[in-house]
Amino acid sequence: MSQTVSATIDEEDAARYRAEFPIFEHTTYLNSCSLGPPSVRVFDALDRYREDWSRYGAPAWWLTWLPKLNEARERFARLIGAGTHEVTISHSISSALSSIASTAAYNERNAVVCAELDFPTIPYQWLAKGREGVNVRFARSLDRVTFPVDSFSGLIDSRVSFVAVSHVLYNTGAIMPIPQLSELAHAAGARIVVDGYHAVGVLPVNVKDLGVDFYVGGTLKWLLGGPGLTFIYVREELISQLQPSITGWFSSADQFAFDPLDLVWPDTANRLELGTPAVATAYAGVEGMDMILEARPDRIYSRLKFLTDCVITRAQRAGYGIRSPLLGDGRGGIVMLEIKQPQDSVAELLRRGFTVDYRPGLLRVSPHFYNTRDDVERCMDALDEVQSGMS
Ligand SMILES: Cc1ncc(COP(=O)(O)O)c(C=O)c1O
Repeated sequence: MSQTVSATIDEEDAARYRAEFPIFEHTTYLNSCSLGPPSVRVFDALDRYREDWSRYGAPAWWLTWLPKLNEARERFARLIGAGTHEVTISHSISSALSSIASTAAYNERNAVVCAELDFPTIPYQWLAKGREGVNVRFARSLDRVTFPVDSFSGLIDSRVSFVAVSHVLYNTGAIMPIPQLSELAHAAGARIVVDGYHAVGVLPVNVKDLGVDFYVGGTLKWLLGGPGLTFIYVREELISQLQPSITGWFSSADQFAFDPLDLVWPDTANRLELGTPAVATAYAGVEGMDMILEARPDRIYSRLKFLTDCVITRAQRAGYGIRSPLLGDGRGGIVMLEIKQPQDSVAELLRRGFTVDYRPGLLRVSPHFYNTRDDVERCMDALDEVQSGMS
């Protein structure tokens, strides 16, 4: 597909991209925040992975696999406005956060600040360190949707080693006030770690403007490359200070020297890398990320505001509760609805040809830029019908 240059993604652009995703042949997919669907470009890339492995065997490492992993690193860096040397590859968000959490000693600074509605694996990194005396402080959300900066008042002080939060919340879609939290963290001498799983591929991200120390994300959801490939960004000035206590031979300055007697770290974010990466994920991931770069994050963001506005308008008309920010500027690509029997409703919608999701007590709808307005309207028609039959 040729590069589109209009400022917005219109229905025609969306329909063209939609045709690249075979999943739409049997379901109207509105669940990209759980798992991005595979495009034919990704299937072709996985075929190339199979061919390279089969043709070369071990030399594939030199000929195509390591170059492909570097391409993945470069795409991640481009998507977040970082230098490639500031980005390394990891396997999951949990492993990425574990590596980051392992860089602190927690002696003087034995507190970490998280947000109470955040994805569990973020606080878990430090709840697991509870036995070492690390104390996790939680910001509370008054409206159960957002965390204005005030909700962190009194929590970020000289005892804190990390502020660790999502950029966009997985269960409300709210965008967190990251630049302000970066300022608060740095004023207290703490570091800020941001999980951007629901931001990269949804909105334009620039880690320099956000002022963060660490930023993680991956291809599973909005970047359309499937599971198993994540990244860690480390702010350049911090790299040489980091002493991770979990490590591997990929984090050595010269891994192919095979020197077991001395561990020398590189002056790049690769000092946080662990062991052999799952290479197939880089083939798929680069393809997914290239589609996002082609569609352009700024255009995707405005398309998502439009599509999520459509969901909200329909929900308001039907009288469903909305547990997401009502204004598009405060929201990523997720809308949470308070409806009757969300789990059963999701199952019934699946039977009727619509894939959405639920989280405890709520229905989760997450369009992506390739969804048409018609996808959203038909799904909301079906939801209204399903709900009218439920007590
Ligand atoms: C915000 C967020 N972080 C992390 C994860 C998952 O982490 P991991 O890659 O460790 O499975 C999810 C959901 O899959 C998520 O929504």
